[in-house]
Amino acid sequence: MLRSIIIYLTILAVSVACTTRKEHYVIAVSSCSNDMWREKLNDELTVSTYMYDNVQIKIASANDNDKRQIEQINRFVDQGVDLLIVSPNQLKTISQAIDRAYGKNIPVVLFDRKTDTDKYTAYIGADNYKVGRDMGEYIAKLMRGSGNLVVIQGLKGSSAAIERDSGFMSVIKKHPDIKIVGNAYAGWFEDEAFNAMDSLLSHTTDIDCVFAQNDRMAIGARRAVEKKGLKRHIDYVGVDALPAKGGGMECVSRGLLTASYIYPTRGDLVMQLAMNILHNKPFKRENRLEGALVTPDNAGVLLLQNEELNKQRDRLYALHDKVDMYLAEYSHQRVYATMAVIIIALLLISFAMIYRTILVKRRLAEQAADAKLVFFTNVSHEFRTPLTLIADPVDRLLDDPRLTDGQIKLLRLIRKNVDVMLRLVGEILDFRKVQKGKMLLRLTRLSLSDGITQWAESFRHAAGRKRIALDTAVDPQITMIADNDKIEKIVYNLLSNAIKYTPEGGNVCISATTGDGIVTIKVADNGCGMAADEARHVFDRFYQTGNSTGGTGIGLALVKAFTEMHKGRVAVESAPGQGTVVTVTLPLEQADAVIDTTGNNLTATVTSAEPLYDIETGLAEPSGVDRITDPDLAPTQKPVALVVDDNADVRSYVVDLLRTDYEVIQAADGTAGLERAVREVPDIVVCDVMMPGTDGLEVCRRLKTETATSHIPVILLTARTMADQRAEGYDCGADAYMTKPFNGRVLTARVRNLLENRRQLKSLYGAGDVPEVKPGDADSRFIADFNRIVMERLADSSLSVEDVSAAIGLSRVQMYRKIKALTGSTPVELIRITRLKRAERMLKQGGHTVSEVSYDVGFSSPSYFAKCFREYFGHLPSE
Ligand code: FRU
Repeated sequence: MLRSIIIYLTILAVSVACTTRKEHYVIAVSSCSNDMWREKLNDELTVSTYMYDNVQIKIASANDNDKRQIEQINRFVDQGVDLLIVSPNQLKTISQAIDRAYGKNIPVVLFDRKTDTDKYTAYIGADNYKVGRDMGEYIAKLMRGSGNLVVIQGLKGSSAAIERDSGFMSVIKKHPDIKIVGNAYAGWFEDEAFNAMDSLLSHTTDIDCVFAQNDRMAIGARRAVEKKGLKRHIDYVGVDALPAKGGGMECVSRGLLTASYIYPTRGDLVMQLAMNILHNKPFKRENRLEGALVTPDNAGVLLLQNEELNKQRDRLYALHDKVDMYLAEYSHQRVYATMAVIIIALLLISFAMIYRTILVKRRLAEQAADAKLVFFTNVSHEFRTPLTLIADPVDRLLDDPRLTDGQIKLLRLIRKNVDVMLRLVGEILDFRKVQKGKMLLRLTRLSLSDGITQWAESFRHAAGRKRIALDTAVDPQITMIADNDKIEKIVYNLLSNAIKYTPEGGNVCISATTGDGIVTIKVADNGCGMAADEARHVFDRFYQTGNSTGGTGIGLALVKAFTEMHKGRVAVESAPGQGTVVTVTLPLEQADAVIDTTGNNLTATVTSAEPLYDIETGLAEPSGVDRITDPDLAPTQKPVALVVDDNADVRSYVVDLLRTDYEVIQAADGTAGLERAVREVPDIVVCDVMMPGTDGLEVCRRLKTETATSHIPVILLTARTMADQRAEGYDCGADAYMTKPFNGRVLTARVRNLLENRRQLKSLYGAGDVPEVKPGDADSRFIADFNRIVMERLADSSLSVEDVSAAIGLSRVQMYRKIKALTGSTPVELIRITRLKRAERMLKQGGHTVSEVSYDVGFSSPSYFAKCFREYFGHLPSE
């Protein structure tokens, strides 16, 4: 693609360069001679082209040579000129060439002289017959009709010479006393006229007037007379009257010539005629130019006029030269500008392509890193549960007092490495959360000075093993608003890296200083350091230096991410063999932070919504572990705990933790768990959040809305650690939230506490008392409903638990377990107590006999009533 763009731009450049000035018309001028008169004409023609756009004029002279003129004309024709202007040397000799041009449809303008054919487009020039006649009349007058006259003609065969002579003779003939004593041809040349006059003078010197057909020849004749030393006055008369120096007009004014005749050049009119022809405008075929006699009377004035004209013309030339120069400059500049634009465009295109390549490369690298991260994240999720299942049993084993020192050492080694793995796995999960924008800050006001000192302390041992001097230089009393956990991770990573890459006996120093509202934490080491190229990438995820000794390549990326989350910056300075300094600058305060003085952040944090465990299928409930009992028939001594988790290992681990103190039932997914909970109404439910189908949150919400199960404390168990998940869990009514990896002792303690809380709550729902119904509190509502139903049918001795269960919408078992859990009593006991409490109130009010009361509260026999009354209140109803 780049190649085609370059080709296109080059063509554009060339065409711009070529379109600088296009010549539309080429006009060729073939002049028969080269003399002062023709120079004037050529100048006028050239100046006239300035009037027209896009006209190029080519002027050539045949130097009075027919053959040369023929060649010249043929060449112009072959070049394909648009128009030919010809002043033919002779009448007949070059007609053929002119006819050829005309035959090729090239317009031909004849000027000054003619040919003998009419194959021309137009003629322009003076009327040479009239020129001759006018001069004849002047001379006749000058000679007063008598005297000796010498005539010197131009080129014998040229039309101008022929016509001038016949015009002249037409007048002279009428004056018989004017004798032509000499008549010669001098080919329009001064020297030839000189020679002709010279030889004539050898025959006669009795001459009164010389008429030469042009001024040059008249001057030549005069020179011959002067040479002869003839004192006689002779009048010399010529034609042309050129106003230039040495021209006829000047000669007249100086008295060298007696008179001349303006033979007009009028290049302007010649050019106008040519352009009219080219532009297809109307034009006259025969165009006669006017001449005029020049005598000593008008020569001076005419010269002055002409001088003025020359000045104007010179100005025009100068102007034109300037315009030409500007145009040339402009066209150069246009070419340069175009070239510059093209070069810039090519550069831009090149930059764009390089940039694109870099972007593509970067995107591919990003994608690869993303894929890596996703993979590691998945693996990390997988690792957390088994790691928990290693860590906790190891902790429990470590509690065993029978362990030998060797065994303790080994177990501690396992525990330490599990921690390392949990930390690495945690880093990957944290980084993923940061990447997905789901990690927010949990801000608290913290003492950075204390924190750094404490965190550094935990490295003391590792540093000591490598004999590394670990120094801390921390300003006292630095407090800041930050996420304690993240700052700790930043410091932890920097210190662990520094120690890792510092050789035995080296130094590591962590410092923290404040100023201008920021804190600067520097971790410097004199370890192996790294090259600038490596240092540039050290904060890229998965980047590992050449000296890398393992690790995930995530730690420093996380440092950067956490730093930037605090609107801070991290920088590294390093040189191979000279150590490394990592500088983290953080603002001391965070804008808009909402801080809870208890240390709990109020700024919402978000966690990943992706599943933390892969769904395990085919998890059959392990047979033989389960228990189904009729609680009324075989009431268990131990509280019943339901464990719901799709991961068989986690489930059985939790079951193992609880089985000593609880009757444990279990379910492998949310739906089964719910069903079980509703059917058996356990005392507590421990449920995983992330499960296929009905997840833990749904299980919890449903348990809390079902009348039968709303009272059951629920502990949600998940690998999720973030607050919004907790919030979600609590919104569903969860009583506790535990994150994996969890500590077994903490879990059992949590279960114990919740059940204990329940026990304490029972006093709130004492039998027979109608509790205050709190809005949204399903338990108080349930007890109130129970009481209302019993009270409504208090006198009905046949009222059974089944009746109340049916009225409330629960099964007998559900009713039993719920009532028992909430009040500590069985439904039967609760109904009886309700009757007895009502009886007590009635007796206290008075007006009723004991047996009346006993029937009123639904006892079928007053003696049984008395027995029950004494058992419950400690005295007889009659008392
Ligand atoms: C110039 C010239 C003029 C003369 C004219 C006739 O070449 O000789 O002197 O008037 O030609 O065509």
